[in-house]
Amino acid sequence: MNDALGSVQSVLVLGGGSDIALATAKALVRSRCRTVVLAGRDPESFAGAAKELHALGAETVESVVFDALAPETHEAFVADVFERFGDIDLVLVTFGVLGDQERAESDASEARRIVETNFTGAVSVLVPMSDALRRQGHGRIVVLSSVAGERARRSNFVYGSSKAGLDAFCQGLGDSLAGTGIRLMIVRPGFVHSKMTDGLDPAPMSTDPDQVAHAIVAGLSRGSEIVWVPGPLRYVMSVLRHLPRAVFRRLPL
Ligand SMILES: NC(=O)c1ccc[n+]([C@@H]2O[C@H](COP(=O)([O-])OP(=O)(O)OC[C@H]3O[C@@H](n4cnc5c(N)ncnc54)[C@H](OP(=O)(O)O)[C@@H]3O)[C@@H](O)[C@H]2O)c1
Repeated sequence: MNDALGSVQSVLVLGGGSDIALATAKALVRSRCRTVVLAGRDPESFAGAAKELHALGAETVESVVFDALAPETHEAFVADVFERFGDIDLVLVTFGVLGDQERAESDASEARRIVETNFTGAVSVLVPMSDALRRQGHGRIVVLSSVAGERARRSNFVYGSSKAGLDAFCQGLGDSLAGTGIRLMIVRPGFVHSKMTDGLDPAPMSTDPDQVAHAIVAGLSRGSEIVWVPGPLRYVMSVLRHLPRAVFRRLPL
């Protein structure tokens, strides 16, 4: 349960190996979260993260198998997690792939992998997850969307469209949860230095996983519904979103 200060005491991370997830889990543990469940395709690889979280004060750190690309397992995964770990205050959805845009333009299997991970996989697990949280009667969901979903760019429109779908789904899901005691927060970072962007030229206003984690924790305590990282990206995107297509497509984005 959340304590009197409203801080999160237990978190389930979908995409437990993500750099942003680990930074966020650490920030949560520093603000009194005691139980962390890391879910991902290779739970053994979470041993180092578990050690770091224990060192910061986490009492329980568990690793479980979760594959966004195996939607047929998601209902049972959710049931199992709630049975094993009981109360979950926060579900952090951080799994995702950037994919290979160039390949995806001529190889539908790569385009499907991106969309099925980032969009279909998230929808597939968020439906039983939000249902389980409704039954629990309280909880928060944080979903990593992206500025890339705000307006699809020529250079990464497959990833961008998967995040646009995810973002739209989460806006509606958040609205459907209003009044239930469950709240959903969408996070829209710009370029973040992480495993996902290793070797890519950083875009302007780039951040790192700690800055995203800080924005997530601040957004949770404010009760925000949408968080941009960094904050001013919101204003940049509100201009870019309204540019005529002929102009937008010529920008070096
Ligand atoms: N980095 C950025 O610039 C940026 C910007 C905006 C939004 N975001 C979003 O923020 C989130 C976290 O990104 P990050 O920067 O922390 O990247 P990251 O370190 O590469 O983390 C992505 C995680 O997703 C997991 N994953 C991929 N496919 C999966 C699947 N089928 N099932 C379960 N897990 C899967 C990966 O696990 P494996 O080890 O199994 O591959 C990895 O742990 C992502 O949703 C990303 O789209 C990132």
